[in-house]
Amino acid sequence: MAANDRKFIVFIGPPGSGKGTQAQIIKERLGLPHVATGDLFRYNLKNQTELGLLAKKYMDAGELVPDEVTIRMVAERLMREDCARGALLDGFPRNLKQAVALDEILAPYGGVTVAPLFEVDDEVVVERISGRRICRKCGAVYHVKFNPPKHEGVCDICGGELYQRDDDRPETVKTRLFVYYKQTAPIIGYYFCRGILVDINAMQPVEDVTRDLMATLKKRGLSD
Ligand code: AP5
Repeated sequence: MAANDRKFIVFIGPPGSGKGTQAQIIKERLGLPHVATGDLFRYNLKNQTELGLLAKKYMDAGELVPDEVTIRMVAERLMREDCARGALLDGFPRNLKQAVALDEILAPYGGVTVAPLFEVDDEVVVERISGRRICRKCGAVYHVKFNPPKHEGVCDICGGELYQRDDDRPETVKTRLFVYYKQTAPIIGYYFCRGILVDINAMQPVEDVTRDLMATLKKRGLSD
């Protein structure tokens, strides 16, 4: 595959807008790996690595992990074999410095292909995050009301235990939203100016968001 045939899709949206949920659904259809910085930090934390322990204090406070650490981690991740056709980026970039760094990393491959923006109201964010439950074993995402597991507290896919993320407490969610508007929102203009930003109405049920997302990606030649 030619270097610039790689596809890099950047999901932008506030916490709880459904980026992770949609990435899990469409990654197989697109044949691209889901590269989520939050998941990479949580994996490191679970394994008690130096990176995980450093990230923990920022994540627990709802703040961004320092750019140097995050950018290096993503650059290394995107060089792995499974990104030979591109990747679905979720949670990166999260500020202008990271957006510029990503352009540098992807320069040999034609840069970011498209940036879907998941739009939801703040009240919806709070409701979604407070009801989110995640499988400890396989990482599947549920919601106690909108997407409940068949048996309370147990993952439908692997039978693992479901838990609530430490940073999903109401006071931390407020900080995460504040950080989103202050630091992440400027990248919306950055991608808009290049003509690669697309709005997605993420207030709809999961299946309808998937339908709109896939239609958008198809229009851009990213799916059949
Ligand atoms: P991260 O893990 O990236 O969290 P986030 O961006 O805040 O995103 P979320 O995972 O909360 O939300 P989501 O949009 O994926 O929603 P989901 O699909 O789960 O980051 C965590 C922390 O890591 C950061 O605060 C920071 O400290 C650090 N970090 C990460 N990246 C970084 C970076 N680049 N630089 C520096 N620091 C970084 O859905 C939410 C819930 O809603 C679920 O329960 C789901 O079932 C439900 N749901 C989803 N879609 C729908 C729908 N359409 N209708 C009804 N319910 C729905």
